[in-house]
Amino acid sequence: MACKLVGFSFLLFSCLILAISASPSLADNVTVTVRAITAIQETDGNLVCATIDWWPKEKCDYGWCPWYNSSIINLDLTNPILYNAVKAFKTLRIRLGGSLQDQVIYGVGKYRKGCEDFKKDPNGLFTFSSGCLTMSRWDEINAFFSKTGAILTFGLNALNGRERAINSTEYVGPWDATNARHFIKHTVSKGYKIESWEFGNELCGEGVSAKVNATRYAMDLIKLKKIIHRMYRGFNAQDRPKLLTPGGFFNMPWFAEMLQVSGPNVVNVVTHHIYNLGPGNDNRLINRILDPFYLSQVAKMYKAVQYVVRNFGPWSTPWIGESGGAYNSGGKGVSDSFVDSFWYLDQLAMVSVYGHSVFCRQALIGGNYGLLDPTTFVPNPDYYRQCTSLEPIDGKASP
Ligand SMILES: *[C@@H]1O[C@H](CO)[C@@H](O)[C@H](O)[C@H]1NC(C)=O
Ligand SMILES: *[C@@H]1O[C@H](CO)[C@@H](O)[C@H](O)[C@H]1NC(C)=O
Ligand SMILES: *[C@@H]1O[C@H](CO)[C@@H](O)[C@H](O)[C@H]1NC(C)=O
Ligand SMILES: *[C@@H]1O[C@H](CO)[C@@H](O)[C@H](O)[C@H]1NC(C)=O
Repeated sequence: MACKLVGFSFLLFSCLILAISASPSLADNVTVTVRAITAIQETDGNLVCATIDWWPKEKCDYGWCPWYNSSIINLDLTNPILYNAVKAFKTLRIRLGGSLQDQVIYGVGKYRKGCEDFKKDPNGLFTFSSGCLTMSRWDEINAFFSKTGAILTFGLNALNGRERAINSTEYVGPWDATNARHFIKHTVSKGYKIESWEFGNELCGEGVSAKVNATRYAMDLIKLKKIIHRMYRGFNAQDRPKLLTPGGFFNMPWFAEMLQVSGPNVVNVVTHHIYNLGPGNDNRLINRILDPFYLSQVAKMYKAVQYVVRNFGPWSTPWIGESGGAYNSGGKGVSDSFVDSFWYLDQLAMVSVYGHSVFCRQALIGGNYGLLDPTTFVPNPDYYRQCTSLEPIDGKASP
């Protein structure tokens, strides 16, 4: 069945209900017509967004290692299914980022030589060493996404130059912007179009592996904003990349302080992450996905984010910067199967109702929650549940 994605969550929601109730048998083709009466919210024209992560194949959870070659660094960008899967959206939003983002070095300037991938390191954050993005890989990434029409968000390393406080997960001291500045400068000089730069991953509030205080963070955001202005001098205001932050779990006082201290028009988009189903190995995942009362609990958080943005940063818009349902790479046999759609469609509609204009699904590929299978690239059911008129994707029509 096919139903067009329109900018109204009312329609999204109707699509979900009808899609479920209008399937007489598996073999039939069903045409669903939605007649909208009223719109309750408008979303970004690109509500649907997917992430690509840095996780290497050595990333394992619960004895499974479901990432294979789906890292930003080694994803096979010549795969025709991947090409068609992104291209089918015409303008799919892609967010490049994830846990290891704050350990990424950009292979420019003095890092041009000896630019190496992540390695297992028991003393590193998330048990990995820092990793380096070569500029030749950056060329390939930009060529691929420009060809497929994607709209890119790139998450910058926000820990550079900070030191870990003794006996704490807090990182202190100012952000060292040098490597990021060189990288942005290189990107501009190549003419690569980045729609938005995101600052940091899961460093807000209590953090996940590391945290940074909100005032310190806000001061560094002002610094990054100035860099973006300088690097994109001569661009029209609407062509200058947006600044997104903090890309982490919502914490009301931290978010409010960050917005107040950074001040008007520094942060354009407030990104936060949602993993409301629990860990990937939780045996209650399916029950939760099929329980409307459970799924609706997270509305409280969407409402709270909307409140903080309206009151402390009315110049910005909230987005879900990353959400895969179940954390630690998703639930095997759950996040990659039909049942997950009940969670996914519900979230797309719910965030729209609470004024979020973008929802980035973790992940386009990789983990158990990928829209595409990480070894065959064949779409999982959720790929088709995005309420767009997508034809089945195959590897035939190559670029
Ligand atoms: C459903 O539609 C597809 C594509 O138009 C067609 O190939 C297929 O035969 C149809 N199936 C049925 C049961 O009508
Ligand atoms: C991942 O990439 C390596 C190196 O290119 C290759 O040898 C391996 O077969 C790939 N693995 C999968 C699952 O595609
Ligand atoms: C850090 O923790 C260790 C082990 O708990 C303790 O022995 C040490 O005194 C602590 N150092 C400081 C500065 O708090
Ligand atoms: C946060 O960082 C700022 C700037 O470095 C510092 O002045 C302030 O005391 C810190 N706040 C807390 C609660 O640690």
